[in-house]
Amino acid sequence: ASADPGSLRTPIVAVLGHVDHGKTSLLDKIRGSAVSEGEAGAITQHIGATAVPLDTVSSMAGELVVADDFDLPGLLFIDTPGHHSFSTLRARGGALADIAVLVVDVNDGFQPQTEEALDILQRTGTPFVVAANKIDTTPGWNPNPKAPVQETYEAQTDRARERLDENLYEIIGQLSDGGFSADLYWRVQNFQNNIGVVPVSAMTGEGIPDLLAVLMGLSQRYMKEEMEVDLAGPGKGTVLEVKDEKGFGATLDVVLYDGTVEEGDRIVVGGVEGPIVTEVRALLRPRALSEIRTEAEFERLDAVQAASGVKLAAPNLDDAMAGAPVRVVRGRPLEDVIEEVEAEL
Ligand code: GTP
Ligand code: MG
Repeated sequence: ASADPGSLRTPIVAVLGHVDHGKTSLLDKIRGSAVSEGEAGAITQHIGATAVPLDTVSSMAGELVVADDFDLPGLLFIDTPGHHSFSTLRARGGALADIAVLVVDVNDGFQPQTEEALDILQRTGTPFVVAANKIDTTPGWNPNPKAPVQETYEAQTDRARERLDENLYEIIGQLSDGGFSADLYWRVQNFQNNIGVVPVSAMTGEGIPDLLAVLMGLSQRYMKEEMEVDLAGPGKGTVLEVKDEKGFGATLDVVLYDGTVEEGDRIVVGGVEGPIVTEVRALLRPRALSEIRTEAEFERLDAVQAASGVKLAAPNLDDAMAGAPVRVVRGRPLEDVIEEVEAEL
């Protein structure tokens, strides 16, 4: 296959934040809305990731995202755990991400893992937006399911609006204490210098159109050049987890951020004792909308293109390391690829 110079990959969006602030609920809501709007099958549950194609983003965001204005293919969300013991997974998610959503419970404000996530984003220079979640819990809130945030905000009583404002300005203040100038997203002109805060509810879907619109807008404006990859080229990815699977032995949960990986491809993976050279036996993905933790049924794929989450089954993966690079060798001298992997360990 030859390279298509016009091909853009999906931006990878990490969802970070303190425990219980609603990261998983937000992604569940995005998946659920897509399904209820007849988009079943359009959204795929990847390994640790959720792919939302542009058309689906557009139908969820209504007039806030007009598909014709965009040429990026959609968004790939990576969920991360908020519990304090998972800091390596958060760091890995943050390092992989092109952009991020920092989820903050609007009542709870900044908490230790919010601060930790901010540090990761600052260190990796990852652009991000803040989702001020759970606005539906504001006393006196009158929910308008799935509405854009300004519409529902204007429909509230003065008292409810004031209470929400207090919480939002608290968060904006905490961001500014952390050295980030921030404001409600519709007041932000330049997203490179200012952090946009998007009030949302993972429960009612309020503000989700806005969140999707901001993420698409940010990606399109600032990420487009980085998204120009050779989608037919040899795959590059990062290992999220090494897991034993019945019938496959040790497997790799990988986020692919460049190129393609095919069944039978020779790959080099970072391992405890140095690079491991092996061959892809199977490319696996959980069946649509089934959770990988509870469902052992995988769909087998011939090839996977970036950006994507996929499980790789191959021999000799016992010593592979989470966080390590994975490279498809295809058409290049093996030694060069081994060196590349070594350089990243
Ligand atoms: P960890 O993965 O443990 O870090 O948590 P999380 O950030 O993924 O939080 P999760 O989505 O599991 O939500 C935690 C709790 O908050 C659950 O009981 C959710 O139902 C609730 N919750 C999440 N978002 C909202 C919201 O917008 N409104 C309300 N009322 N509850 C919410
Ligand atoms: Mg979660």
